[in-house]
Amino acid sequence: PAPSWAVTADVVIVGSGIAGLSTALGHLRRSGNGRVALVTKDRLSTGSTAYAQGGIAAAMAPGDDPVAHMVDTHLAGAGLCDPYAVHVLATEGPEALRRLIALGAEFDRDASGGLALTREGGHRADRVAHAGGDATGAEIQRALVTAVLADERIEIIEHAVALDALHDPATGAVCGITLHVMGEGTRDGVGAVLAPAVVLATGGLGQIFAATTNPPVSTGDGLALAARAGARLRDLEFIQFHPTVLWLGPDARGRQPLVSEALRGEGAYLVDAAGNRIMAGVHELADLAPRDVVARTIARVMAEQGVDHVYLEARHFGRKTWETRFPTILASCREHGIDPLNEPIPVAPAAHYASGGVEVDIEGRTGVPGLWAVGEVARTGVHGANRLASNSLLEGLVFADRIAARLAAEARPLPAEGVPAPAVTALPDPSVVPRVRTLMSRHAGVLRTGEGLRTLVAELDALGDAEGGPAPDTASWEAADLLTVARLVAAAAAHRTESRGAHQRADHAEPRPEWRIRPVIVRLEGDTP
Ligand code: SIN
Repeated sequence: PAPSWAVTADVVIVGSGIAGLSTALGHLRRSGNGRVALVTKDRLSTGSTAYAQGGIAAAMAPGDDPVAHMVDTHLAGAGLCDPYAVHVLATEGPEALRRLIALGAEFDRDASGGLALTREGGHRADRVAHAGGDATGAEIQRALVTAVLADERIEIIEHAVALDALHDPATGAVCGITLHVMGEGTRDGVGAVLAPAVVLATGGLGQIFAATTNPPVSTGDGLALAARAGARLRDLEFIQFHPTVLWLGPDARGRQPLVSEALRGEGAYLVDAAGNRIMAGVHELADLAPRDVVARTIARVMAEQGVDHVYLEARHFGRKTWETRFPTILASCREHGIDPLNEPIPVAPAAHYASGGVEVDIEGRTGVPGLWAVGEVARTGVHGANRLASNSLLEGLVFADRIAARLAAEARPLPAEGVPAPAVTALPDPSVVPRVRTLMSRHAGVLRTGEGLRTLVAELDALGDAEGGPAPDTASWEAADLLTVARLVAAAAAHRTESRGAHQRADHAEPRPEWRIRPVIVRLEGDTP
């Protein structure tokens, strides 16, 4: 449908997690003036950031340094990280964290008042800052939302699904978006935000899988929008599965509670039902091996033993540590009838993070003029084939500031003449979504096969061909995006005939040197790898 209302801004930011909110604040701090439209699909705080537990990594400890952080990031990334992007992340990280603290985010402190730092998988130094014990994301979100709400130059548009990029008819550059707002008075229905810069900060895609740590809003909308706008998506096959997600039974679907890696950073360890430690001898860092190694080992043990979960042992922490250091996890275990003070916690891997995304340069530009991306939706190259724990919040902060620094300098005028509304293609019926999720978890999970991936591609294609639902609503738009993204992930995974990082194939069990230099880039219009 054609937009029935329009607003203008200097920049429109889609998404309200750490990346989107930091871009908004950074832009206004740097430009001194301006108008930001901040579009979010639900409420300001319903995205993934608020669920982050473990923390945010930065080389802040006296014995640590950014080079050591770079080394750990590269080792976790299994040979695919972009060296310059990693350099930027690690060297600009400490300052970005200090800025966040200056803004009002309160991190846990040690006895001498310094930042309390812990360790997570793949880190060889204590460099993970945390807040509220295990409620780091909630505190960061609180501080950023407070700052955004206090700034009148930011217009917030909630309950708005971003639909498509608008293009300047004269230059082809992106000059805004269409969006569908649900129930917001004068801003109801399909409208447009015209702006010379569109920044996608829409987060992840975990909801394309049956079980995920991601909240319901993480349906890959930004990826789908970027793909429709002609952007290149890269490294999509590297879906990170978090090794320790609370196991709630074989039929559990949707968002599952995270059991932070920080528990293992403080001495918890993985065991099978007989109490045998499963990470011993697997990796030099044992239970603190990079996340892909741990998830893969759990999947192997589950397959060998014919079980659907293993256990995380942390009874030895005792009541005080549990209550002060891990209150969120303690509460969520208890809510599900598990008392980690008296029993090991049942856990299994679940989809957690997209290490790839919309390909961007070191300042967040996609290849489509006017379209930028930041945070989980973007592929900067810092994560390679497997993101290092707690680098994601940091990436959002560091690269938001980089985009903010460029936005004012690259502002273009809005088109003088009318901007054509994009054609709306038929939407799938939302009833296909459970099937998409089941297929993705079955064939594109921790362990993949060529045959399974070929089946997946064919079945998703058939679902994509099924014609549309009734009048468009959030569920129909989301179903379209989710199906688009699932098809692109499946195409990328089928194409990479090796095992590397988070992409493991039984039929190509080893990494192969040529895949280190051959990028897997997918686009829409059959122009896949
Ligand atoms: C966790 O707390 O285990 C998750 C941290 C992350 O995904 O980086």
